[in-house]
Amino acid sequence: MAVSHQRPAHVAGSAGPAHAGGSAGPAPADSIATATGLRKVYGSGDTEVVALDNVDVSIQRGTFTAIMGPSGSGKSTLMHCMAGLDRPTAGTVVVDGETISSLNERQLTKLRRTRLGFVFQAFNLIPTLTAKENITLPVDLARGHVNQGWFERVVDAVGLRDHLGHRPAELSGGQQQRVACARALITQPSVVFADEPTGNLDSVSSREVLTFLRQSVDELGQSVVVVTHDPGTAAFADRVLFLADGAIVGDLPSPSVDSVIEALRTFSERSRARASAGGASGGASGGAGGASGAASAAARGAGDAR
Ligand SMILES: Nc1ncnc2c1ncn2[C@@H]1O[C@H](COP(=O)(O)OP(=O)(O)OP(=O)(O)O)[C@@H](O)[C@H]1O
Ligand SMILES: [Mg+2]
Repeated sequence: MAVSHQRPAHVAGSAGPAHAGGSAGPAPADSIATATGLRKVYGSGDTEVVALDNVDVSIQRGTFTAIMGPSGSGKSTLMHCMAGLDRPTAGTVVVDGETISSLNERQLTKLRRTRLGFVFQAFNLIPTLTAKENITLPVDLARGHVNQGWFERVVDAVGLRDHLGHRPAELSGGQQQRVACARALITQPSVVFADEPTGNLDSVSSREVLTFLRQSVDELGQSVVVVTHDPGTAAFADRVLFLADGAIVGDLPSPSVDSVIEALRTFSERSRARASAGGASGGASGGAGGASGAASAAARGAGDAR
């Protein structure tokens, strides 16, 4: 079932088939985060793994982008390199006009604290702090002042006004993840990066969190990138990028659950055909289950979030 949320008018494209290709296109003028020639190699010699292989990607400002692909395809590595949590082996990353690959550790820490927001599968809240204190933590750590108007907007959007005094243990999983999302947004970051933010949540909580992330784009003008295995989650996005073996293999605008499942099926069939032709690429390991595993897992998980 496709979701009926409104997409920003400037997001081009129809719900056609995923565009397959090695690159997600050149950086448009309204790009908020761009990776060019991104390569990440872990280990060396026999243990060398090419996690990212010459990836070009551009994320548009004020949009919701999902990244999908089999386990081990490089999704987290791409997100970590684009968010300055990991250094690429080669290539450049520009976030909101800042070339992060050229920053030193101190500058990078400052950029992460002030311009980027993170949401992880494990909510990573501080158990001794209240929801309100967890939300404002990034501002407090930077010894900044909480913008009260923005705080109120985020708290309303996240729907936790009645729970601000509660500690994480007194909140449901979905509420905790919404606190984590609010914390990611409190600094009005250039981009929010979320790595499987609904991976630990039931379908109702997933929907709450995704609805909030969607609202943060539509109503608060944020830019959000979410890594997910679930077509239901991807259908909340304006665009889905598909990774396989460390490369971008597809780019689907205006996704629906059905079009995402169809695209995953196409990519897994291609991957199987390549493997049986003996031409499996030497990129990233492909990970547990490979593309076909991901497609069937995705088909199982379809609609989880609705
Ligand atoms: N710190 C590391 N050291 C060595 N290899 C790594 C490291 N991190 C990731 N890799 C390898 O890089 C490849 C890409 O990993 P990555 O975590 O980006 O995959 P993923 O697409 O996020 O997978 P998943 O869906 O399972 O989270 C994999 O082959 C993985 O084993
Ligand atoms: Mg991952």
